[in-house]
Amino acid sequence: MDDWIEIGRVADIPRRGARCVTTPTGRIAVFRTVEDQVFALEDRCPHKGGPLSQGIVHGAQVTCPLHNFVISLETGTAQAPDEGQVRTIPLSVVEGRIFMAPEAMLSAAE
Ligand code: FES
Repeated sequence: MDDWIEIGRVADIPRRGARCVTTPTGRIAVFRTVEDQVFALEDRCPHKGGPLSQGIVHGAQVTCPLHNFVISLETGTAQAPDEGQVRTIPLSVVEGRIFMAPEAMLSAAE
């Protein structure tokens, strides 16, 4: 885990909210659930690119603020009947500190 990137603390993210991390390939939204789980998704809704970081987290899902697609924080997939998927980024939490997998810095095409 030496090359994982520390991006902040769980306590810095509001419960049921998100904070953004800017990478060379775009913005990543880091979400915190009511149960203090954290998940990272590309901050682009698979529908029309809405900012998922501004959505409301419920359970392990986020509702896009633009047209209400419901996206799984675990898989990045849209809940049926909507379709689409957004990239997920692995995170690790150690003593309240959040680390992001180095692949977050690579584009999805690589
Ligand atoms: S852009 Fe997210 S639901 Fe339309």
